Amino acid sequence: MNYPVWDVPVLGGAWVIAIIAIIHVLISHFAVGGGLFLPMAERRALAQGRAEWMPLLKRHSRFFLVLTAAAGTVTGVGIWFSIGLGSPAGTSALIHNFVFVWAIEWVFFLVEITAAAVYYYTWDRVSDKLHLAVGWVYAVSSLWTLIIINGILAFMLTPAGAWLDAAGTGDEVRTLWPAFFNAEYWPSLIARALVAISLAGTYALVTVSLLDGAKHADLKESFARWSSRWVLPGFVLMPIAMGWFVAALPEGAREILALGVGGAGVGAFTQVTRAALYAAVGSATIAPIVLLLVWRDARHLRLSHALAVIGLALLTTGASEMAREMLRKPYIVRGYMYSNGLFEAAVDTPEERTASYLANSPWVRPAEAQAWASPVSSESYQLERGELMYRGQCLACHTRDGYRSTRRLLASRDRDGIQSILTMLHERPEDSPYNRYMPPLVGTADEIAALGDYLFEDTTVARRAYLKKEGLTEDESVAPAEPEAQD
Ligand code: HEC
Repeated sequence: MNYPVWDVPVLGGAWVIAIIAIIHVLISHFAVGGGLFLPMAERRALAQGRAEWMPLLKRHSRFFLVLTAAAGTVTGVGIWFSIGLGSPAGTSALIHNFVFVWAIEWVFFLVEITAAAVYYYTWDRVSDKLHLAVGWVYAVSSLWTLIIINGILAFMLTPAGAWLDAAGTGDEVRTLWPAFFNAEYWPSLIARALVAISLAGTYALVTVSLLDGAKHADLKESFARWSSRWVLPGFVLMPIAMGWFVAALPEGAREILALGVGGAGVGAFTQVTRAALYAAVGSATIAPIVLLLVWRDARHLRLSHALAVIGLALLTTGASEMAREMLRKPYIVRGYMYSNGLFEAAVDTPEERTASYLANSPWVRPAEAQAWASPVSSESYQLERGELMYRGQCLACHTRDGYRSTRRLLASRDRDGIQSILTMLHERPEDSPYNRYMPPLVGTADEIAALGDYLFEDTTVARRAYLKKEGLTEDESVAPAEPEAQD
């Protein structure tokens, strides 16, 4: 029963999704900003009679076409593959709610890449006016893809109350508008649009850096200076958009962020805080660097300079997408579905949490469900059941031996220590810090014991190493009394 739980060693499925998504975000936002950049630049060149800009714009539109239509498209499909494998239940929930919204987005996307190709291939072949018009079709359709997808992304963080009330009743479609225009819709849209505009200016530096500064001094300087202005709106307005974004966060998520900022010194929730800080510092430094590079000496702007700025943009994008992701913990859709696919409403009460997990898993063959759910017949069977519990309920966020490794996190615990964590996850006392970032553990006492046995067995090597390092014997090992903060 590996499928549908995607058991990716070391890296974890979540990181596979993240890596693809970060690249895609960088390219897709560029597609939106660049879509605006090209016709604006062309219009300016036409109006001011700067014929020398045209070959440069043509070259830029080729770079653009290759990057967005090839790399952007492939990573976009990659996201679908990876989220379908990584969180089938979450993907299904989103598709069921937003299928027409996505269909509309795809139509715009089709127009977008078609227009990008037509734009590139019709340089010098159609009238200026018509060519520019194709550029505008590109700009508007790519902007629409952002306007649409943003609603779905923001929904995962702040699904509207009306939608949550309707969820599971079959009436969700009536709450499509509030779900789409949810609390984070506008601040996210503005932040993403600002990122898109900044990226357009940043990527233009790549094209302009390839120009020979000695031969085309004026051209290089005028184009670089004009492009560099594109980073300004983001620099000025991003703090406002971010402030709005934080203000619109739901209570719990804001708490996580506030706790991190307040407790950064003592290491509490440092991951989300760190990510948010990187994002803020990154986006605040890109503009000064670009302006410095260009306004000091545009003629000597080199490809390495441009790539360094793009590298910084990549880190900034990665950090902000990670912060957004972590603010959503432990949910895929906040207040509705946990990261491991459990519906919050189905595991709310202690009784619901004590129901058999294995018998109710949609991924166990009906004929086998009873056997998986029945108490142990042999030790190896018990471990196998434990592993099913682990895959089903823990792997969405942990790996055994790599990212957020359970072997590392559990190495200092004996069998009782492991059990006490599982009990805490299962019973969810009010004051448990785990409630903020881990879903409830669901299962019968026997299934939870199987999970404990599996974790204990799986951690054996790590525990021995830990004991040896500490100079302890198996009997002396004790579980830490206080749960550790998220890091
Ligand atoms: C929604 C994501 C998520 C899921 C699902 C999840 N965890 Fe965690 N878990 C976390 C995060 C985040 C941390 C903090 C990580 C850190 O400190 O590096 C954590 C920490 C832990 C720790 C260390 C806690 C401590 O105080 O030492 C253990 C042990 C653990 N998880 C076990 C589990 C087990 C077992 C499951 C499955 C039943 C599980 N987790 C499911 C997100 C999750």
